[in-house]
Formats: sequence, C-alpha cells, structure tokens
Amino acid sequence: MTVATWPVAELHVHIEGTLETELLVTLARRNNVALPSYDPEALRELYRFTDLQSFLDIYYANLAVLRCENDFYDLAMAYLARATRAGVRRAEIFFDPQTHLANGIPLAVVFGGLSRALIDARRDLGISADLILCFLRHLGGEAALETLEAAVPYLDQIIGVGLDSAEVGFPPSLFTEVFARAGALGLHRVAHAGEEGGPDYVHEALDLLGVERVDHGIRAIEDPGLVQILRERQIPLTVCPLSNVCLHATPTLAEHPLPAMLAAGLLVTISSDDPAYFGGYVDDNLAAVEREFALSPHQMAALARNSFRASFLPEAEKRRHIAAVDEHLEGLLRLTSGA
Ligand code: ADE
Ligand code: ZN
Repeated sequence: MTVATWPVAELHVHIEGTLETELLVTLARRNNVALPSYDPEALRELYRFTDLQSFLDIYYANLAVLRCENDFYDLAMAYLARATRAGVRRAEIFFDPQTHLANGIPLAVVFGGLSRALIDARRDLGISADLILCFLRHLGGEAALETLEAAVPYLDQIIGVGLDSAEVGFPPSLFTEVFARAGALGLHRVAHAGEEGGPDYVHEALDLLGVERVDHGIRAIEDPGLVQILRERQIPLTVCPLSNVCLHATPTLAEHPLPAMLAAGLLVTISSDDPAYFGGYVDDNLAAVEREFALSPHQMAALARNSFRASFLPEAEKRRHIAAVDEHLEGLLRLTSGA
C-alpha cells in the first residue's frame, strides 16, 4: 500500500542536502563552477559512501555552486515543491551558513534566497516552512558563537538552532555557550546526536545544550537509562532510515533500530536528512520502513502524528494537522475494508 500522501511534518532535512544533481549541473553552468562531470546520472554514481565523513566531503564540495540569492531560492523552491508532493504540510529546514560564509557568500544572500522561497511556497503551494540555523561541529564552539552573533539581524527569519557535520570527536559539550545564548535569544534548540556518536552524545545534548529534539538519536537504544529518559520526557527523535543505511550507521534497513525504538515508546518521527544523496524524500523513507517492517496503517498514522507533535508549530495548528492524519487513516481503512 502506498503511503505517499500521509500528511506529515518534515523535521530533519538539510536544504543543502536537497541539491539534486540536475540542479547542481544547472547552477555549476550558471556560475562557471567546475564539477567532476556535467552528467547528472554520472554525478549520482559518485554517491557511494562509507560513513558520514565520506558523504560530507562530497556534500560540502558541491555547495560551491551556490553563489547568489536566486541559487538559494531555486534550491529551496525545488525542495518545497517536491516536499509538497510527498505530503509535507510543515517543514522545519536546516541550513549551514558557515559553509556559505567560507565560500564567500554573505549571510544576506543566503537568508534572502531561502526566506523568499519559504514565503512564495506558503502562498503558492500552501506549505508551512521555517528555518533552523545549524552550526558545523568541526569548526568548533567559538566559530559557532560568532556565526550566531552575525545572524542576530536575521533572527526573525529563523525559529531555532541545530548542530550538524562530523559528530565523533566534536561532542555537544563544545557548544554549551552558543546553545545557552540561542536559548536566551528565544530560539528553539535541536542537535544531531547518536548518529555515529554513542549514547553519551545524546545525554550531553539533553543535559548541556537543552535540546528539545534529538536529530537521529538511533544509538540511544544502546543505553536503557537513556531510553527511559527519552520516553518519560517524550523527547522527539528525528530518525532518517535511508540516510542511516547509506552512511552505514546501520548495516541494513532490516537491522535498523526503528522497531525497537517504537516498541520502547519513544517519540520517533521519520525524515529524509539529505534526500538528493540518500535515495529518497520523506515519502520514500516512510514507504521504505512501512515495507521493511510491515507497519500497519495505525503505526504509519502514529509516525505521521508524531511528526506534528514534535514540530514547533502552535498547538492549534498541530491539532489541525493531526486531525488530517486521522482523516487520512480513516479513508485508508475504509478503502482496505472495501466499505
Ligand atoms: N549534514 C548534513 N547531513 C548530515 C548528517 N546526516 N549528519 C551530520 N551532519 C549532516
Ligand atoms: Zn542531518
């Protein structure tokens, strides 16, 4: 059974990770940037990763094609159009300003393009979207703090901060100060933790950074005490199954901890992470776990409901979206019962 149209919130997607090879080639030609190939298929063939770092090396290199406001606009608009087709009603989108600053692109250009796309998409596609500014862990805590201060004039264009890039060796404890500052500025706080790093990284993200959601968090399952905390506090974990397989965080989808996480009563959501690199958008991720774990319509509905519960939307909007999930479930059950 197809799940392509479950209404969902996408809470873990890097806008830079939605750069499909077709658009990559278009932007490279537009901006005279050299690529290893100008054939989108041949470029996709290069996407064979052994771990997170092997992916990040290609991902960061490709971002040299983003030069002007329209490039960021086109990138975000392409994602929002595809996401709408995937059933996404709400997207809380990560972006990595430090990558673009290092490429010589001012913050005004990045915000200008991304924010304009979000406004146009809300008007033209009916999708609600906001931005979460991520700090690159490999650049350290001081650089993160400088980036946040530089972004203060654009605070009305972000809803929160996140933490991404190479995890192991760059624990959350390095970012205590910048997350405290973000909290004082009234921003939501999330962080990647427990993707490649162990459960200790998840503990630190909760205790030292005060995060409201954990991105990935799959290795939390190794620590029963942590599982109990996550269950009791209903901390959302934004799980990205196709990403985890592509980056070998889990050997196969069949061995993914998702069923164990659900059985443990964790508030799990499904997301796509970097869909242009990992073979699928949120609908593809949902379809993959539905098939692999033979999830029932009720379990799929729970995942969709969780995505809205875990979002940063106002409560009334969450309720409206959750009602749409319930309606979708009822329609599906009527269809399968032949009524
Ligand atoms: N940046 C983009 N995708 C990422 C991931 N899966 N983990 C850490 N940083 C990232
Ligand atoms: Zn991610």
